[in-house]
Amino acid sequence: MAQHSPLVVAHRGSSGVAPENTLAAFRQAIADGADMIELDVRMTKDFELVVLHDRSVNRTTNGKGKVWDLTLADLLALDAGSWFGRKFSGERIPTLRQVIDLLPHHINLNTEVKTDGERRKRLAFEELLLLLLREKNFSRRVLVSSFDHDFLRRFHALDPKIKIGALYYPLRDAARKPSVLARRVGASVFICSVAQLRKRFVDDTERNGIALACYGVNSRRQLAKVKQSGVKIVVTDYPKEIRKLLRAASR
Ligand code: G3P
Ligand code: MG
Repeated sequence: MAQHSPLVVAHRGSSGVAPENTLAAFRQAIADGADMIELDVRMTKDFELVVLHDRSVNRTTNGKGKVWDLTLADLLALDAGSWFGRKFSGERIPTLRQVIDLLPHHINLNTEVKTDGERRKRLAFEELLLLLLREKNFSRRVLVSSFDHDFLRRFHALDPKIKIGALYYPLRDAARKPSVLARRVGASVFICSVAQLRKRFVDDTERNGIALACYGVNSRRQLAKVKQSGVKIVVTDYPKEIRKLLRAASR
């Protein structure tokens, strides 16, 4: 049977060559031939969905403070590109809506929801995300993933047709099989890092019809490891290079 090339997912956009989670990184990922874009979604003080990895803006912008304590207007005033390189100065923290509007039809989206486990945020977050995905007709083009499995379980109940990706958190999940973790939250994809990848994950997901995704695949050696394990979804900071290596291997 023909072996299909794994899906290439741009982690926070092409974050190896452009500032993570900015429109510059997402445009680069589109140009680099990614099949899917992964980004991190957070909710602001005034209940807007924005794209940022960390709990605070300190590392990746010229501002200070937690996203939850800042309004959208506060966040839009920040420079989210200069920390990475002078040529990216003026890049902003994007809203999820902006990224959705940017994506061409052939590219899908992995929205990784960051709640920091705070319960008070979850209800509004679930509903806002669902409303936006429906408004933008994105329900079939999105994978909603999270380390927060309570969020996933509740989101899945709201709309079981939207694909769910369960992220592996060893301190909590190590004793359980991927299929058990996935089933609990209605996930069809199980996601771990390349360092966490184990044969038992491969066997269990295969046996139970769950797709296995690996993030942190940034080198030839890491790609070889995940390919050998039969991982179907590769999440990388360097989609162009990974695509090139896959192409070379298929010749
Ligand atoms: O979706 C996989 C990956 O993004 C999870 O870790 O910290 O990069 O959001 P992190
Ligand atoms: Mg992420």
